[in-house]
Amino acid sequence: MNDILTGLDHHASLPAAQQPIWPNSDEVAKVRAELAKQPPLVFAGEVDQLRTRLAEAAAGRAFLLQGGDCAETFADATADRIRNRVKTLLQMAVVLTYGASMPVVKMGRMAGQFAKPRSSNDETRGEVTLPAYRGDAVNGYDFNLESRTNDPWRMLKAYNTSASTLNLIRAFTQGGFADLRSVHEWNRGFSENPTNIRYESLAKEIDRAIKFMAACGADFESLRTTEFYVSHEALLLDYERPMTRIDSRTGNPYDTSGHFVWIGERTRQLDNAHVDFLSRVRNPIGVKLGPTTSVDDVKSLIEKLDPKLEPGRLTFISRMGASKVREELPKLVEAVRDLGAQPLWITDPMHGNGITTKNGYKSRHFDDVMDEVRGFFEVHQSLGTIPGGIHVELTGDDVAECLGGSEKIDEATLEERYESLCDPRLNHSQSLELAFLVAESLRKI
Ligand code: PEP
Ligand code: CO
Repeated sequence: MNDILTGLDHHASLPAAQQPIWPNSDEVAKVRAELAKQPPLVFAGEVDQLRTRLAEAAAGRAFLLQGGDCAETFADATADRIRNRVKTLLQMAVVLTYGASMPVVKMGRMAGQFAKPRSSNDETRGEVTLPAYRGDAVNGYDFNLESRTNDPWRMLKAYNTSASTLNLIRAFTQGGFADLRSVHEWNRGFSENPTNIRYESLAKEIDRAIKFMAACGADFESLRTTEFYVSHEALLLDYERPMTRIDSRTGNPYDTSGHFVWIGERTRQLDNAHVDFLSRVRNPIGVKLGPTTSVDDVKSLIEKLDPKLEPGRLTFISRMGASKVREELPKLVEAVRDLGAQPLWITDPMHGNGITTKNGYKSRHFDDVMDEVRGFFEVHQSLGTIPGGIHVELTGDDVAECLGGSEKIDEATLEERYESLCDPRLNHSQSLELAFLVAESLRKI
């Protein structure tokens, strides 16, 4: 039963970027053995179902909403915070469903997003240099040697925290919390706030649609519950490999750490371990594409990751930056279209738009985020291809990390409510605004 898994380990000899240097390899082996014994977090049937949903999105019959923290933390895996994130995604999804007149596939960057690629191995503050924070699955954020020392046992804690997060997500989305009518009531709270007056007319239209359904007596299961999938960056191979299991029904390997896994801009080298690993699992997979991606890169990625051009298998997550998307994306989309491939194209309007504010915060402008989304739609519209979804970093809480939006968050406000340990996230209200604006764009398509 372990042939393919041994295969995965065999390929451990390929170079892998962005892996932590563990202090003790015996301990890593113990943790891997322990992880391999844990129950799967997600099941092959769910993963296959997601693939069919993503195939619908790639064909223009559904729209993917993927969102959550840049880096989840153990400390923030509380019921309140998880609920707020799920709630925000559900609220956005209602608005997008109306705008797109299509089902919205809901997917959290949740229950596994505990490891981060970093631009440098070290971080220096004043006179002190310590290993960089690589996510709670690897080391701690506090700036002292003990906390910053990589600890493989944290991967087991990441597994357990993912399990309890996922348990709550399943309860929220299957147990009545996700009822369309209550999600709509929460949205009224947003659109009736005078600062959001711009969104009032679309909100009223949705309101009428819901009242119409109620008047017709519509009351079915899909109003009360919803499918919700989880995803994260498959970065830490010492975590993802032992979580990969052979499905007894089909004999295929699934990475059971999440329904959807992606590789980032820094780990998508064609001959390296991450691409090889993703090529071997049956999950639907994603690859981030930044502005330096060449046509040859995307063609080779398709060859390696989706040679059979299977609907729903491969998602390209474009993260070009607002100033580059109109210039850099068309050639890639065109080349892929001309190959006859139909991966799902989605936009990540966050990672190409980072700035550092004068007072020293990593931030992003809401207007740049929206501009990249619009550029992404324009590119697909002009090529006759399908803009199939969005990938955003967000939180359900009232933080101040991204600038702008109708609350007009400015640099001084960042000093009051900046919580992210990694990249700046849209807060609850900015996330809903984004959904309203994207819904308006989708209506024009
Ligand atoms: C991320 O999604 O948090 C990330 C690091 O993105 P990218 O690989 O696109 O830089
Ligand atoms: Co990020």
